[in-house]
Amino acid sequence: MTNDSSPPLLEVRGISKQFSGVQALDNVSLTLSRGEVLAVVGENGAGKSTLMRIVAGVTQPTSGSIIVDGTPAEFPSVAQALKQGIALIHQELNLADNLSVAANIFLGREPLRFGTIDQRRIDQESQTFIDMVGLDVPPQTIVGTLPIGKQQLVEIAKALSTNARILIMDEPTSSLSERETQKLFDVVRGLRSRGVSVLYISHRLHEIEELADRVVVLRDGKYSGELPRDDIQRANIVRLMVGRDVSRFYQRTPHEPGDIIATANDLRTTKFPHRTVSFELRAGEIVGLAGLVGAGRSELLTTLFGVTPAVNGTLAVGTLHRPPRTVREAVAAGIMLAPEDRRRAGLFLPMSVKRNLSLASLRRDQRHGFLNHAAENRVSAEMVALMRIKTATDRQVVRYLSGGNQQKVVLGKWLCLEPKLLLLDEPTRGIDVGSKEEIYKLMDQLAARGVAILFASSELEEIIGLSDRVLVMHEGRITGELDRAAITEESVMQLATGGADRRERIGA
Ligand SMILES: Nc1ncnc2c1ncn2[C@@H]1O[C@H](COP(=O)(O)OP(=O)(O)OP(=O)(O)O)[C@@H](O)[C@H]1O
Ligand SMILES: [Mg+2]
Repeated sequence: MTNDSSPPLLEVRGISKQFSGVQALDNVSLTLSRGEVLAVVGENGAGKSTLMRIVAGVTQPTSGSIIVDGTPAEFPSVAQALKQGIALIHQELNLADNLSVAANIFLGREPLRFGTIDQRRIDQESQTFIDMVGLDVPPQTIVGTLPIGKQQLVEIAKALSTNARILIMDEPTSSLSERETQKLFDVVRGLRSRGVSVLYISHRLHEIEELADRVVVLRDGKYSGELPRDDIQRANIVRLMVGRDVSRFYQRTPHEPGDIIATANDLRTTKFPHRTVSFELRAGEIVGLAGLVGAGRSELLTTLFGVTPAVNGTLAVGTLHRPPRTVREAVAAGIMLAPEDRRRAGLFLPMSVKRNLSLASLRRDQRHGFLNHAAENRVSAEMVALMRIKTATDRQVVRYLSGGNQQKVVLGKWLCLEPKLLLLDEPTRGIDVGSKEEIYKLMDQLAARGVAILFASSELEEIIGLSDRVLVMHEGRITGELDRAAITEESVMQLATGGADRRERIGA
């Protein structure tokens, strides 16, 4: 839409950013036109979020400049960037848990009436943006009570409400369902047709194929290349990202299911006390747990792990003959969960990478109350290398790792424990393509060693690529079970949207 005489809406010129010991960005330049959806991709730790935070005035660059509408911009603050029409949707949620959806949308920009906050206007106007993102909760709902996918929609509604000219979305879909993602795409297309520009970050390359007008690739903090619309294909993107072909993505060794490891009968979770869930899991099996956001997958996993004890029903795992009442009981029975909201439930942000990785396994190995430092060093070094965790040293505090590298730390912590039953909630959320491959390999290896794995994922591709068997949930119950040969996009989606009244078993 730009022609030669008008400057691009946004120009990033020679931006560098240095943190103590880390060159996060090295001389990065790019432009953004009016009404353009520009995807920015790169491996975990490539510098994407740092660049976006600089454009949105959250952080200052070490050197370089930002030019908006042909005029050099100084953004000492988020408020200044907002004034220029630049809004950022954070990768990690940035909401006030104890406030309502409406209050969060207008936080810091509350409309006033006679000098006091105009609550009615807040509720009314927020409704417009709530509808826009397809969020189906009243504006007065307290944000902390919403599941993470819906919190993400609130974050997006909040950014839309600023009427920005440039909207930065840092992994907006990482906790959204397929349906919510499509809804978000409609919103983005609507914005584009109104001349709003979008900087879009995602590790889900099919989203980028579907949505982006152009792709800029970052690699190790440097500009690595870009692709025009017609060249946006997964293989091209990956080549620029990692400098190699990632071809055989879902490496699976056929698993011979062994003995039954876990049996659940008529389990009722506190979230869905009127629904019962029954299933069996065998040693060496990778079972996918599919469903739309809100279907009850996370509730089932946290119940199996004793976080929110079951209302009733039975569960047999190892020495345990009823559902665990505490996490300690679950762990003692050989059950582990890598939760969905890893920042809250799985990580100790002020502690080092090393300590986070080794904490759970050392507690198990610990003798006489002191830590085995040699073991700690070994566990940590192995995991950092295996999962390619990008960090200056494993003594680095986890808080300063990029989003995806934080995810790897939590996952690594559980993977090195070798449980009997491993529960994973969205294991590759926010993780780059190359590292996903490593995680799939690890899951495969664990299964080959006899671990039963139950993993929830909103990425159909992942469910289809990895699972020996799939359990599909809808509104708190299992609507169907698919054997390997019967797992297709259609069969999963049909069951995820309700399926038949009775539970279906579809085999080969
Ligand atoms: N406040 C900080 N202090 C020290 N290092 C930091 C800080 N913020 C970011 N880094 C480092 O800068 C590098 C780039 O991080 P950034 O968050 O921009 O990556 P990213 O491309 O967004 O990755 P991801 O896909 O995992 O979100 C990483 O090595 C990260 O550890
Ligand atoms: Mg990031």
